[in-house]
Amino acid sequence: MNDTKPVLVSGIKPTGDLHIGNYFGAMRQFVELSRAGKYRPFVFVADYHALNSMQEHEEMRRRTRELVVAYLAVGLDPKEVVLFKQSDVPAHTELCWIFDTITTMPYLMRAHAYKDAEARNKEINVGTFNYPMLMAADILLYDAAVVPVGADQKQHIEYARDTAEKFNRVYRTDLFKLPEPYIMADVAVVPGTDGQKMSKSYGNVIPLFASREELARRVMSIVTDSSGERPENVYAIHKLVRSEGELEKMYDEYQGDYKMLKELLVEDLDRYLAPIRAKYEELQSDPGIIEEILGEGKREARAISEAKMEEVRRTIGVAY
Ligand code: TYM
Repeated sequence: MNDTKPVLVSGIKPTGDLHIGNYFGAMRQFVELSRAGKYRPFVFVADYHALNSMQEHEEMRRRTRELVVAYLAVGLDPKEVVLFKQSDVPAHTELCWIFDTITTMPYLMRAHAYKDAEARNKEINVGTFNYPMLMAADILLYDAAVVPVGADQKQHIEYARDTAEKFNRVYRTDLFKLPEPYIMADVAVVPGTDGQKMSKSYGNVIPLFASREELARRVMSIVTDSSGERPENVYAIHKLVRSEGELEKMYDEYQGDYKMLKELLVEDLDRYLAPIRAKYEELQSDPGIIEEILGEGKREARAISEAKMEEVRRTIGVAY
């Protein structure tokens, strides 16, 4: 691996079935940017972030394994990418604490995720409140230049940038590099079956590893509005897997025939997702592979992050 390349960092929480919003909004970019060879990629399972909403150990284990297999199935190559579990690298939580000490509560209260939770009158745990600081640590530890994510994570990257600046200012250093979000405009917000952002918590997802039957069920449930020229919610998802030029023709030809258009969408989605699904199933039969990959990722991520933490400790004056 070339150490001089700019670093790419991103992660996903192991909290639910992956959906095509995760894939088109983020995972596909992890793969494309890693393959392009221009970056040094670090991709991880954000299990400590998941802990805020999932406190069931069997589920944590299962979903973590599923996410690692999914990373491989979509095409990440562990020889090119450092693939690891956040909880395997203690520097993440250590740096999070140091960031906590330079961050104010009013600043964290401005986070969308916190404000949403508060608006829903939820009892918010400290981990949720503090979420942006752990995420800043995830990113800044590796000197990330780019962070490929969907639009919903943009504010979190801004928090990471602000935190890098603040640390550098407080300690009169340039230790932390300012990361840039990498958000693809056309897939920044992948819509769900109801037209809102596709999200595990809205129950509007199309799972990435759905069987054809499941795909058909989800597509048939897409909410259509007969007031316009074409079923916009169907079209918006179709756009992910077929060019707009082809779609224009198809949607003209079958204007008004929503059932047919949905069937065509099922066909196209199935064709697109079938190889990823097949790879996912093939990898399931090789359980040893996960420990091996995570073991290697842990060693590499620990070595790099520990070297950074040594500098951090010296900078703040707790090590000499
Ligand atoms: P998470 O696990 O909620 O989602 C994983 C990725 O999928 C993207 N995404 C979408 N993109 C477009 N349209 C959608 N409908 C859609 N739904 C989800 C998310 O934007 C995200 O990129 N906080 C992060 C995990 C994380 C992280 C990090 C990411 C922890 N530490 C450091 C980057 C760097 C999260 O909850 O993602």
